[in-house]
Formats: sequence, C-alpha cells, structure tokens
Amino acid sequence: MTSTDTRFRVGLLGHGTVGAAFAALLPQRADAVAGVTGLRPEIGGVLTRSQGDFDAILADSDLIVELIGGIEPARDYVLRAMRAGKHVVTANKQLLSQHGEELWACAREHGVQLRFEAAVAGVVPVIRVLQESLAAAHVERIHGIVNGTTNFILSEMARTGATYADALAEAQRLGYAEADPSEDVNGKDAAAKMAILARLAFDTPVHLDQVVYEGIEQIAPDDIEYARDLGLGLKLIGTAERVDGGLSVRVHPAFLYPGHPLASVNGPFNAVTVESDAITEITMSGPGAGGPQTASAVLGDVVSAMIPPASTPPTSGALEIVADVVSAFYLHLEVPDNPGVLARIAGVLGDHGISVKSVVQKGLGDNARLVMVVHAVLESRFFTALDELSGLGVLRTAPRAIRVIEEQFA
Ligand SMILES: NC(=O)c1ccc[n+]([C@@H]2O[C@H](COP(=O)([O-])OP(=O)(O)OC[C@H]3O[C@@H](n4cnc5c(N)ncnc54)[C@H](OP(=O)(O)O)[C@@H]3O)[C@@H](O)[C@H]2O)c1
Repeated sequence: MTSTDTRFRVGLLGHGTVGAAFAALLPQRADAVAGVTGLRPEIGGVLTRSQGDFDAILADSDLIVELIGGIEPARDYVLRAMRAGKHVVTANKQLLSQHGEELWACAREHGVQLRFEAAVAGVVPVIRVLQESLAAAHVERIHGIVNGTTNFILSEMARTGATYADALAEAQRLGYAEADPSEDVNGKDAAAKMAILARLAFDTPVHLDQVVYEGIEQIAPDDIEYARDLGLGLKLIGTAERVDGGLSVRVHPAFLYPGHPLASVNGPFNAVTVESDAITEITMSGPGAGGPQTASAVLGDVVSAMIPPASTPPTSGALEIVADVVSAFYLHLEVPDNPGVLARIAGVLGDHGISVKSVVQKGLGDNARLVMVVHAVLESRFFTALDELSGLGVLRTAPRAIRVIEEQFA
C-alpha cells in the first residue's frame, strides 16, 4: 500500500447547491489531492434532513464539512465535531458572524482547524490572505463588494436603465437571486461577511449585531443616471475601518469614482480591497457564489486542513465599535425653480460645515433638480442638515442621499 492509498474520510453535512457540487468535485480531484497530501480524500457519509446519522458520520470521519447553513443544527454539529478532535470546514457566514468567538475558542481548545474560506466572497481567497499573507500587516481599511446578487442588480440598473424591481426579476431569472432575496438586497448578507472580515483584519471580536447596514431597495434609476454625469458608479459596499482608535463596520450603497479598484467590478462578481500603509492596497476579485465555485473553495480548505496547521489566533483585545463616521455624500433635491431657494439650501449646508464639491442642476418646468456631491463630513452632521433642509418647506420630494467613497488608486 503506498502512502497515497491512505484514505482521508470527509463527513459531509448538507447536500444542497454547494454540498452536491462538493460531493461531485471531490472524487474528480482526489488523485491530485493525494499527490499533494499523500492522503486520498473520499466522502465518508452524507447528512441531510432525510438521510444519514450525524454520530455515525462523525465517528467515521477525519474531517467534517458543514454545508447546511443557518445557526442550528449547524452550530451544534460544528461544536461536536471539534470537541471530537475533527477539523471542520464550513461556508456558513451566518454562523460565524454570530457565534464565531465560541467556535474559534472551541477550535483552539481542541487543537483543530476551523476553515471558512467560502463563507466570504465565495471562491475569492480573501480569508486566507488576511489570515496568512497579511497576518503581519496593520490593516487600515477593507472595502468589499461581498454580495453578488446586489452587484448584479446595480450593474443591470446602470447598464440598461432598468428599475430596481425589473433588475431583481432578471437576477432571479438568471439564478443570481433566490426566490426570497431579502437578506441579499437589505444588506444583511453582506453585513455578516463584513463582520467576519473585520474580525480577522482587526483582530477584534465583531458580531453581526454591531454592523450597521442598509440595502439597495430604495435606489432609483435616475440617481444612477445623474451620478454618472458626475463620474460616479453605484455599488453596495461593505466597509471596515479604523476610526479614532476604534472600528467602524458598515454596509451601504455608495458611489465610487472610476479610479477606485471596486468601480469596475460588475455583474455577480465579488471583490475585496485591503488597505494598509505597508501594502498600499490589494484587490482580490472573482465569482462570489455558485455551487461549483463555492465547492472549489471548500475543497481548497479541506486540502489545507489535511496539511497542518493553521489556527485562528485569539483576539488581541476589543476595539470600540464606532457608529458615526466621516463620509462624502451624493445629494438629490427637487425644489421649486424660484429665486433664493438655492441660497437657502446653500445656507443650511454651510451652517453645518458642509461644502459642495460638484453640482448639476436640471430644469423641470417649475421645478429644478439639484444633484450634488458634498465633501466628507461627519455623518450625524450631514443627516442633521438633511432634516433641516426638509424643514425648510421648499423640497418637492424627500431628499435622496447616498454615500460617496472618494478614494481612487488609479
Ligand atoms: N449557494 C451558494 O452559492 C453559496 C455561496 C457561498 C456560501 N454558501 C453557504 O453554503 C451553505 C450551504 O448553502 P446551499 O446554497 O448549498 O444551501 P441549500 O441548497 O439550501 O442546501 C442545504 C442542505 O442542508 C441540508 N439541511 C438543511 N437543514 C438540515 C438539518 N436540520 N439537518 C441536516 N441537513 C439539513 C438540506 O437538506 P435537504 O436536502 O434534506 O433539504 C440541504 O441538503 C450555507 O451556509 C450558505 O450560506 C452558499
């Protein structure tokens, strides 16, 4: 018997989109993996709601792959596997963003690996880069397009002028959006992924509840069109950054100038930009979801776990989570085309220390549409000014404000 005949049993929990793709991929790649690791991986047992027994699969496995999703019973199975001394690979962002500390502590206590590359940005190897390649970098900021559904919808709205509802229907038709897309479009899915990235990049516990998020449901096609006149493109952006000695983690629609590395990421793709003084910036991009793509990232983790060792270090302390940050804004106002109105608006903005970077004015009969980008200002101050503008009694419709990321690297 050669060393490559030594079997490595993988217990598979979940046989849905990703689980079934993983079960198909593993035998195809078993020879190649055996060549690298000296061990031949094979599926030891499969658990779904209607087949398999967890205890029997656990007893017969060298490693557990969890592809059930959600919190329970996934959490219980992952903990029990690690307590039994088995490495675990998971793609479960919900679980890690809400119970990560408990799971990582358990992995450390039992000397096993908990790997989760596929939980964030699908096949894009951002977890590995943060945990290994950039382990010594002092990360300042991460920006991510970490939800392919919303990136597809916004790309489609920009490309065709479609409404949000039509672009969502197209995403569902093409399989980029699920029948119930709520957690994608309201930003919660991206928030879970940003919580995980922030935990790794800033070495501080971050729970999903601490991530402020906003979705894309309210985006109107004309905002995308007007902003294009100002050279801006719209994305749903996750941000994690150091702010005043603390940490801000948030997800919201944001305009980008063309020089930003994320500006050109279109369709269902994901991308993450990591910024640090030492490295300037690194951007990684690729498919963010899909059964075969995600299964490939899961198998990569299985192979890594077969070659020892990697562990999630304990946190080095807790950074304060900062809610109020500085941001530039795009602002869309519809006002009567009367003398003095513009001066009153400028007066309110000026009173709050908000200065206008660029402005486009369009006549609409008796109305005028003012579309502007204002320079970076503390968000609470901007929203106070917005309330005051609404109170002037001159706005024909509610003001529409979307954040603008001003950085450009090109
Ligand atoms: N789909 C993607 O493109 C993608 C991308 C990145 C990450 N992920 C993550 O990968 C994981 C799996 O996603 P998926 O899309 O493959 O999900 P899915 O298609 O819904 O499949 C879930 C699987 O888990 C099984 N399951 C559900 N509840 C169970 C229970 N109580 N006990 C045992 N088995 C149970 C289901 O069994 P039945 O067959 O009996 O229903 C099914 O086989 C999730 O954490 C997801 O967030 C998915």
